[in-house]
Amino acid sequence: MDAPSRDSFSGKFGVIAAAAGSAVGLGNIWRFPYVAGENGGGAFLLVYLGFILAIGLPVMLSELLIGRKSQKNVFGAFKTLAPDKPIFMSVGIMGVGAAFMILAFYAVVAGWTLEYTWLAVQDGLAGKTSAELSTLFKSFSSSTVGPMVWMVVFMVMTAGIVMGGVKNGIEKYTKILMPMLLVIIIVLCIKAITLDGAEKGLLFLFQPDFSKVTGSVILEALGQAFFSLSIGMGVIATYGSYIQKKENLLATAFSVSVADTLIAVLAGIAIFPAVFAFGIKPDAGPGLVFETLPNVFNQMVGGYLFSIAFFVLLVIAALTSSVSLLEVVVAYFCEELKMKRKAATALAAGLITLLGALCVVSQDVFDVFDKTSSTILLPLGGILIAVFAGWVLGKNKVKEELEAHGGKANYVSVLIFVVKIVAPIAIGFVFLKGLGVLELIF
Ligand code: TRP
Repeated sequence: MDAPSRDSFSGKFGVIAAAAGSAVGLGNIWRFPYVAGENGGGAFLLVYLGFILAIGLPVMLSELLIGRKSQKNVFGAFKTLAPDKPIFMSVGIMGVGAAFMILAFYAVVAGWTLEYTWLAVQDGLAGKTSAELSTLFKSFSSSTVGPMVWMVVFMVMTAGIVMGGVKNGIEKYTKILMPMLLVIIIVLCIKAITLDGAEKGLLFLFQPDFSKVTGSVILEALGQAFFSLSIGMGVIATYGSYIQKKENLLATAFSVSVADTLIAVLAGIAIFPAVFAFGIKPDAGPGLVFETLPNVFNQMVGGYLFSIAFFVLLVIAALTSSVSLLEVVVAYFCEELKMKRKAATALAAGLITLLGALCVVSQDVFDVFDKTSSTILLPLGGILIAVFAGWVLGKNKVKEELEAHGGKANYVSVLIFVVKIVAPIAIGFVFLKGLGVLELIF
């Protein structure tokens, strides 16, 4: 069954770098702080951390093992493992659909980071007041030509890497660049917590106010956890299919979840003190990072170089994630529709660029893609993935895959209990409550 032509990651570090590269992205540095800001800060963070640990990690492990066991793209995986249960093929269909939607709006935001890199190089952010920086972001992001051009540039970059394949494209760069991103964020955090008035920001992020927790806050936290970990739509299953049998999947899932959470929390620490110190509203929405951090750069020694480095790395973080999204569609086109890799990449990237253009011209389309994917498609995919691992594969097959080639399988009973019962019920409940369906029943 092991087709020798199938590409794979070279080893442990490569696997973790690529999977962490997928997980760590704009979701951590752009989306997490502003969604936390809109949903009350500390209480959101707590609910979010709970979801990562109790649901995100087990679902990620399930996805990894489904992918590796089947050695297929997300659609082919379920078709191969359970040909008699077509309902699970919906995970593949929703997954490919979600990849289109997510990458469309993701590429727009990544385009903003390219524009900001360019602005930073020209020193165009220096000397601006907080109010001017807010206006700058609003007028840029609501214009058409600039964001459109940068979005297209970003999609071309993504397609270029995906055409190169897994080992020599995706893996090579992530290994070097992710550690650099971590260092820069830590320096920014140190700067942020020494700003005047930093305590307010830290309190906002770390002091939970439970009166703010509503059904929709919980659903947002779940959606953010799924989005940030890249789970629920087959990215991780697709990457799992490129992981060799000797690797330990539990260790992989654990390292990736820790790295992802760490970077999101560090981004929060870098941003919220500055939000309060510079009089920005924590619920300022998608512009939060772009409006806030340039203020910090402006107050730093070496702020010019630092701002360039930060935005370049943000572009890279976005690229290692967008590549994983495109790979889901490309693997599907290649294996199910029998296309050649280059043609599949060009077609997928072309179609997504058209959807991206829609997101540039319409804020509504942007919001619908963002919300539908993270609060509907990812949780639904997550339920099906958990149910599949727990009920369809079951304990023995899960254990067998985790132990493949002499690997160790710890905590299998806990995993099975969570994916069979806890995760489907919890996700289902949060999902219905967040959508307001439960209120209609009770
Ligand atoms: N996790 C990435 C981020 O935080 C985005 C991403 C990549 C993603 N692949 C995904 C989100 C798959 C959902 C599903 O930026």
